[in-house]
Amino acid sequence: MLKLGVIGTSWICRQFIDAALETGKYELKAVYSRSIQKGQEFVADFSDVQIFDGLTEFVNNIEIDLVYIASPNSLHYQQAKAAIEAGKNVIVEKPAFSNPTEFEEIFELAAKKKLFVLEAARHIHDTAFAVIKSFLSDKTILSANLTYAKYSSKMAALLAGELPNKWNPKFSGGILADLGVYLIYWTIAQFGKAESVDYQAKLLSSGVDVSGHGILHYEDFDVSFFNAGNLTSYLASEIYTDEGTLVLDSVAGTGKAAFVKINGETEEFEIQTAENPLFDEADAFADILENANQEKYAVLQALAQQVNQTLFSMRQKARIVFEADK
Ligand SMILES: NC(=O)c1ccc[n+]([C@@H]2O[C@H](COP(=O)([O-])OP(=O)(O)OC[C@H]3O[C@@H](n4cnc5c(N)ncnc54)[C@H](OP(=O)(O)O)[C@@H]3O)[C@@H](O)[C@H]2O)c1
Repeated sequence: MLKLGVIGTSWICRQFIDAALETGKYELKAVYSRSIQKGQEFVADFSDVQIFDGLTEFVNNIEIDLVYIASPNSLHYQQAKAAIEAGKNVIVEKPAFSNPTEFEEIFELAAKKKLFVLEAARHIHDTAFAVIKSFLSDKTILSANLTYAKYSSKMAALLAGELPNKWNPKFSGGILADLGVYLIYWTIAQFGKAESVDYQAKLLSSGVDVSGHGILHYEDFDVSFFNAGNLTSYLASEIYTDEGTLVLDSVAGTGKAAFVKINGETEEFEIQTAENPLFDEADAFADILENANQEKYAVLQALAQQVNQTLFSMRQKARIVFEADK
């Protein structure tokens, strides 16, 4: 059993706990919150869970061997570092770290301590992802157009003059770090690291992006994408091949997929989705952690590194600077 401690008390943390427990491979042992009362309310449905409001005491708790981090993006680095120094494996929400400097430091430290750091990019662990990858493997890719744009629940606060974590450069916020990361993960996990990238964005007065258009350039094709948090798009994502067009309702958790052949014939895919969208990810991570599966870990680590470098290059193109970069 993986003895889990979690950082954060928001809905995504609860969803991960539910997914982890559903696999039957984890038990929840501890929660870190800035507020003991908030922590107690958060674990009201569970028994025998310790609550900590001090990070050092939390990570050094001998009851846990794994820390899941679901805090604002810029805090991941110091929290992951503290957990690794205390000898714990880490699962960290996407985007794992603010820039390549943080990324390299954390992964070097983890390697030295023979510990695992896993980035929670849930959609690449979905069965749909593997089905699509296998389907595309014998096709020639000509181009792709991906979209992820959803009116943010934090938009009202922003418009009222507040600065929610999500839109704050102090917390490594912005739409590329929030929704864009799904598109970049999907693209790199499907096609490998791009030769070069572009990103043009609409910036908020805080300095981070609220919407933007990106391109990943490959030798024989480009993948372009649109991401936004100030509007909702109902467009599908499309991958154009020499045999026809693959149409996905979303790449950030595909529910529907169809291939429209050049002659217009359409082939619908049978897509199995888990009820909890984090289930497949929690199960995949348990396999790596319980069996010390170095082969699978190396693949995920290389992918996480390429995504981190790509996000950084795109931010540089759009002149988005986080406090963590300074
Ligand atoms: N994989 C997915 O589907 C998915 C979905 C949503 C979010 N995420 C990722 O999950 C992470 C958290 O996102 P979120 O929207 O849940 O963030 P959030 O609500 O801003 O913060 C998450 C938690 O961090 C703590 N926190 C908030 N502000 C803090 C501050 N100023 N200083 C220290 N701790 C603070 C809070 O816990 P306490 O008050 O208890 O300390 C809060 O519950 C992000 O990296 C995000 O990208 C992933």
